[in-house]
Amino acid sequence: MFPNVDSVSSDKNLSPKEGVMSGDKISIITAMANGRVIGYNNDLPWERIPWDFKNFKERTMDCPIIMGSKTFDSIIARTKKPLPGRYMIAVSRTRAPVQTNEYAIAPSIEQALDIAHRRTNGKGEIFIGGGSEIYQQTLPFVDRLYVTFIDADFPGDAYFPEIDFLSWKEVGIPPDTPPIQKGVNSPYNLRYTIFERKPHL
Ligand SMILES: NC(=O)c1ccc[n+]([C@@H]2O[C@H](COP(=O)([O-])OP(=O)(O)OC[C@H]3O[C@@H](n4cnc5c(N)ncnc54)[C@H](OP(=O)(O)O)[C@@H]3O)[C@@H](O)[C@H]2O)c1
Repeated sequence: MFPNVDSVSSDKNLSPKEGVMSGDKISIITAMANGRVIGYNNDLPWERIPWDFKNFKERTMDCPIIMGSKTFDSIIARTKKPLPGRYMIAVSRTRAPVQTNEYAIAPSIEQALDIAHRRTNGKGEIFIGGGSEIYQQTLPFVDRLYVTFIDADFPGDAYFPEIDFLSWKEVGIPPDTPPIQKGVNSPYNLRYTIFERKPHL
C-alpha cells in the first residue's frame, strides 16, 4: 500500500538547519518499499528497477551526492567505480579524509556540504543519497524529497526515517517524467513523487 501523505511524522519537532552558506537546494533522493524499507545486507532488497535507476541518474546528473560510507561501499561494489557525472562525497568518522576529482571522503555531514557547496558555487542542487543513518541526520534540514514508493514487501535492516508529512507539500512530478510501466520498466508497482518543505510561518 502506498503511504497516505496525511499520516503522522517524527521530524516535526526538528528545525531545519539555518545558515548553510548558499542558495543550493539540498534534496534527499530515495526509493522505499512498504514499511519504509530501503536496504538489506548493505544492498537494495529488491530486483533491479530500470525506471528508478534511470530516474536517479537523470535527477542527480552533474550534481554532488552525499552518502554514508556504507552506501558508498555498496555502490562501488556494484559499479566498480564512482558514478559518472556525479561528485560522490562519502561521510565517514573513521576513514582518512580525501578529495579526488571523482569523489571525496569527509569526516562530517557539515564538511561534506561544504565540499558540495564549493562545487556548485551555491547555485545548484545537492543530493543526499542515503543510507538510513544519513537520511535520519539530514531529513530535518533538507529542502526537497524525491521519493519512489515501491508497493512491495521485503525483509530489511535499513529504513527511511518517519516523514512528518505536515511539514511537506507534495508538488508532484515534472510532466516529462517517463511513465512507470509494471512489467516493462519496473517489476513492481511504483509511485514517484516530490515533496517540498513547507515554508516556516
Ligand atoms: N533505497 C534507497 O534509496 C537507498 C539509498 C541509499 C542506501 N540504501 C541502503 O541503505 C543501507 C545503508 O544504510 P546505513 O544506514 O546502514 O549506512 P549509511 O548511512 O550508508 O552509512 C553509515 C556510515 O556513515 C558514516 N556516518 C554516519 N553519520 C556520520 C556523520 N555524522 N559524520 C561522519 N560519518 C558518518 C559512518 O561511517 P564509518 O563507519 O566509515 O565511520 C557510518 O557507519 C544499505 O542497505 C543501502 O543499500 C538504500
